[in-house]
Amino acid sequence: MQFVRLGESGLIISRLGFGAMTFTAGDATLASIYKVDEALADRMVSRTLEAGVNFFDTADAYANGQSEELLGRLLKGRREAVVIATKVGFRTGPALGQAGLSRRHILWSAEQSLRRLGTDRIDLYLCHKEDPFTPLEETLAALDELVRAGKVRYVGFSNWSAWKAAAALEIQKARGYAPFVTGQMHYSLVGRDVERDVLPMMRRYGLGLTVWSPLASGFLSGKYRPENLGDPANRLAGFDILPFDKAWGFQAVDRLREIAGARGCSPAQAAVAWLLARAGVACVLVGASKLPQLEDNLGAADIVLGAAEIARLDEVTEPAAVYPNWFIQRLIDEPQRVALSGQVS
Ligand SMILES: NC(=O)c1ccc[n+]([C@@H]2O[C@H](COP(=O)([O-])OP(=O)(O)OC[C@H]3O[C@@H](n4cnc5c(N)ncnc54)[C@H](OP(=O)(O)O)[C@@H]3O)[C@@H](O)[C@H]2O)c1
Repeated sequence: MQFVRLGESGLIISRLGFGAMTFTAGDATLASIYKVDEALADRMVSRTLEAGVNFFDTADAYANGQSEELLGRLLKGRREAVVIATKVGFRTGPALGQAGLSRRHILWSAEQSLRRLGTDRIDLYLCHKEDPFTPLEETLAALDELVRAGKVRYVGFSNWSAWKAAAALEIQKARGYAPFVTGQMHYSLVGRDVERDVLPMMRRYGLGLTVWSPLASGFLSGKYRPENLGDPANRLAGFDILPFDKAWGFQAVDRLREIAGARGCSPAQAAVAWLLARAGVACVLVGASKLPQLEDNLGAADIVLGAAEIARLDEVTEPAAVYPNWFIQRLIDEPQRVALSGQVS
């Protein structure tokens, strides 16, 4: 297993992380996701630790808090060896204020997460989504308060637009607040929107990207065909949130099969290895509903794709540049570009 410092922080995490979104103690509000009971979760956590993974991700909202509870219990006794990330922002109860990124909800939810995880501090606390109803300054002050109180070690965002994260980082710098060290964002061969603005923003601010749904909810494992997309045994039948066109996605799967077949790995491993090779990607969060899937995904740690394989994968889903990116690229000053061999500030 390889390790990396998360952004410019001193937090060291494995390049593969484990996502505990599938863990449940019976909650079935999202039954196509929450499939892993305590016995299986125990085996998954043990196998993940054995593979050298030290980074575990959950959220207050997963299975109504049961994911945090199970993960905390299974990591008991190993607390010093692992880095635990959890999140706040989604609705966690019926009261109006039990959602979002207000000071009130963040401070309350952090206490609930600490209790459920059975720990006295959260290593990495992430805002799970943007909150359009709370001033950004209030959210950032609340996060900083948690860090100063010793309840949280590092903070980050998830599913935020680049402009809002950049605005937040400037506020954090100006006020001496604990800065965001990561963005946890969706990135996959069929979901490359972060290449447009989020990754360039992260490079500018020295943040490391942690990737969610690296297999596009399992689609890139190659187990889907047009005729079994609705198979109730699989995630996509019940929870299909990623907005990519499936016919276009199957072209990417074919290319993954080709690359994987030639080097004797699985399409899932090739998909994760492609992400691990992307500039700015610190860590890829793997998830699973079955042990063989976990085994498959952990195997990606041993795959280093060559430049030709990466180029073959890049080209199959190369995103079209949107404005103003196409303007910037097409009208770049040519003498300077040549003189600097493509180095950018
Ligand atoms: N910040 C956020 O908003 C956000 C959002 C989503 C996830 N996350 C985090 O990211 C983690 C990973 O996300 P994800 O679970 O969506 O990742 P993913 O790898 O895209 O999808 C995982 C699902 O795909 C299927 N699968 C996984 N590996 C497979 C394999 N090798 N062969 C066949 N099927 C396979 C399984 O579902 P089935 O067997 O049920 O089909 C598994 O539960 C989560 O656990 C969570 O911690 C964060």
